[in-house]
Amino acid sequence: MTQKKMWGGRFSEGTAALVEEYTESISYDRALYRQDIKGSQAHARMLARQGVLSAEEADILCRGLDQVRTEIEAGEFVWKRGLEDVHMNIESRLTEIVGEVGKKLHTGRSRNDQVALDFRLYVAEALDNWQRLAANLVRVLADKAEAQREVILPGCTHLQPAQPVSLAQHLLAYAWMFKRDFERMADAGRRVRVSPLGAAALAGTTYPLDPASVASEVGFDSAFANSMDAVSDRDFAVEPVFCASLCMAHLSRLCEDIIIWSNPAFGFVKLPDAYSTGSSIMPQKKNPDVAELMRGKSGRVYGALTSLLTTIKGLPMTYNRDLQEDKQPFFDADRTLSASLEVMGGMMEALGFNAVNMRRMLKLGFVNATELADYLVGKGLPFREAHHVTGAAVALAEQRGLGLEDLELPEFQAISPLIGPDVYEVLAFEAAVARREAPGGTGPHSVQTQLAALRGWLSTAR
Ligand code: ARG
Repeated sequence: MTQKKMWGGRFSEGTAALVEEYTESISYDRALYRQDIKGSQAHARMLARQGVLSAEEADILCRGLDQVRTEIEAGEFVWKRGLEDVHMNIESRLTEIVGEVGKKLHTGRSRNDQVALDFRLYVAEALDNWQRLAANLVRVLADKAEAQREVILPGCTHLQPAQPVSLAQHLLAYAWMFKRDFERMADAGRRVRVSPLGAAALAGTTYPLDPASVASEVGFDSAFANSMDAVSDRDFAVEPVFCASLCMAHLSRLCEDIIIWSNPAFGFVKLPDAYSTGSSIMPQKKNPDVAELMRGKSGRVYGALTSLLTTIKGLPMTYNRDLQEDKQPFFDADRTLSASLEVMGGMMEALGFNAVNMRRMLKLGFVNATELADYLVGKGLPFREAHHVTGAAVALAEQRGLGLEDLELPEFQAISPLIGPDVYEVLAFEAAVARREAPGGTGPHSVQTQLAALRGWLSTAR
């Protein structure tokens, strides 16, 4: 049996060692120490403003808490598993430092609202960091797109060559995804920055507390509206982990493009040495391991999301100890997403493109077939027939191992007398791209408009 607990007034025996080990959270929730101290200091100062503590008592508590933080950051703090979690470890050390007054800190508060505040503060900081990294990735993609404006590659559907697009358009598709990820995170952040302190265990408190002032002191927008909701929900963690999951899905798709593009059959990208690895047995290998790992790590983040959703799904009102299982999935998702965004930023920055191989692939895929069909429609042929005639031209070119643009005029005219010498300018890949200037299209002006919009957004996105 272990020693008596801070909550052990009614208990006559200690906890079984196995139970202590099973129920502790200090091994991981110590990561919340800064948030716990910040919340406690705000609570102490509010208690003094409300006349529950004297100003002097609040001062002593706040200075004691400063000292606890210093000890933790200097690595001198002794974390005790017997004290269960970060909250009781810090409070217990505080009382050692400041004496009896330390025991007044928990007035009008419960660990239930305390942990909810700590965790909300932690999640809010994580969101800020993700947003910073996502905005950086948007910037890197915009810079790359700008530098690669002239490069054209086969755009695919079903991973089959479809129509020529500019590389800038392809890269900006991802930039828009990460911009939306940023915005989703910002939006979720508004629901995170609500202080639950003052909800106490579940029913609110009899002390004349001022939750709104605590909220603004910790930098949050408002305080809870309902004490039971405040201590029992974890939607403030679930929603950001959903945002992280979707962002990982976007990263994973970009990884997939990089993996495919780095295969010599495509040869569209040159993996930077710093972001690829070799094989221990095959000397020729240069593997896109970083992109593969990132694709793989998306699963961890979805796992965290599933874990959190499952943890809360069957809980009766209000706080249940199950909720202690909210932290590790979040921490893991946070580490995974932050590292992935940062690594992707670096990898994209260093990625080299091979325009020659992209052009070679353009010729293989008949990606200008739509242009020929549209040309025939322009000459008065109904689209279905134009589609059919174009199919015949593609079959001939394929049989001859040529691109459509390499067929001789008589060959075209044998297929359709509507085809004239002006067909060749229509078939040029650059022309196909340049014709798509409708809003959001791959045409150079449309791409320029997108770039300007993204740059404008970046200048406002902290
Ligand atoms: N370690 C706990 C958690 O993470 C703190 C709250 C404990 N509250 C309680 N009533 N047992 O959820």
